[in-house]
Amino acid sequence: MVVSARRKVLAHNFCLLLLTMASAGDVFEHGRHGTSLFKVQEAGRCCSPPADGRANDPPKPLLIAAPCDAGEYPVVLFLHGYLCNNYFYSQLLQHVASHGFIVIGPQLYTVSGPDTTGEINSAAAVINWLADGLSSTALPPNVRPNLTAVTISGHSRGGKVAFALALGHAKTSLPLAALIAVDPVDGMAVGKQTPPPILTNKRSSLRVPAPAMVIGSGLGSEPRNALFSPCAPLGVSHAAFYDECAGAACHLVARDYGHTDMMDDVTRGAKGLATRAVCKSGEARAPMRRFVGGAMVAFLKKWVEGRPEWLDGIRERPEVAPVFLSVVEFQDEGCSS
Ligand SMILES: *[C@@H]1O[C@H](CO)[C@@H](O)[C@H](O)[C@H]1NC(C)=O
Repeated sequence: MVVSARRKVLAHNFCLLLLTMASAGDVFEHGRHGTSLFKVQEAGRCCSPPADGRANDPPKPLLIAAPCDAGEYPVVLFLHGYLCNNYFYSQLLQHVASHGFIVIGPQLYTVSGPDTTGEINSAAAVINWLADGLSSTALPPNVRPNLTAVTISGHSRGGKVAFALALGHAKTSLPLAALIAVDPVDGMAVGKQTPPPILTNKRSSLRVPAPAMVIGSGLGSEPRNALFSPCAPLGVSHAAFYDECAGAACHLVARDYGHTDMMDDVTRGAKGLATRAVCKSGEARAPMRRFVGGAMVAFLKKWVEGRPEWLDGIRERPEVAPVFLSVVEFQDEGCSS
């Protein structure tokens, strides 16, 4: 009697354990929502008469991933890397959207020099357009954005732009819910930052007014070959951004993956080929993309939806991630000044 009851309890606990383990890793799988992916052209394109109800077109072309199910969802801006196309990230954007977020990837430019000011202003213009423009022109009628606050995220130079926006380098009309920088890069090296410099070389100097997540790639600091410099050089990449965060922040690094490995499996064209030719890569992109998408979702669930269990799960058991994490650091609010 006693033994069998005990067995039952053990079996029950084991099932609970399996359940918790499964849920901690859930974020790395596609979420429960089907998603739609669509493009929105920017305002001022030729051929669209001003009085056709599309006066509210965005200031930049957008790629939007949104849940198909009716509902109200938080909004996440995702800013592409240097000379990259927003659609190189379509699988990542859909992964995040499938967990109940509207993810907006503007195309900030097609050609750009080292100065990042134009991108910062363009991204701010997109944020300022969201309140009036997003529901009226861009989304299916049953999918509503919750614009109480907006999360800003970005990859590579887009991660630097995300930090710049969070730090107030351009005026934005919505409060910041959270900041996510995916292998952010601020120039070529310490002392060779691109204007405007965001990193200051001082610990805890960046007073981001919301929690920040910094994701890094272990291979980003290694050169692809003798011809190229690393895509995410030490000193101006993820570790520096994390160290300089003054408030709540976390830092996760995928040891065996490279700077562009969270992009789509297929990235076409000259720019698409460059994402593989210029940066050192790990093996398949899928595990890194699932990791980055899942980490973003876990962070958003905690800081935007008030549900910490997935981020706590990664913190306590980094092995739930689909890639090996060489760095798992958390800095809580008030721990540093
Ligand atoms: C919108 O988001 C805010 C937090 O950003 C939340 O407090 C509020 O409940 C959300 N509204 C709805 C209808 O979900």
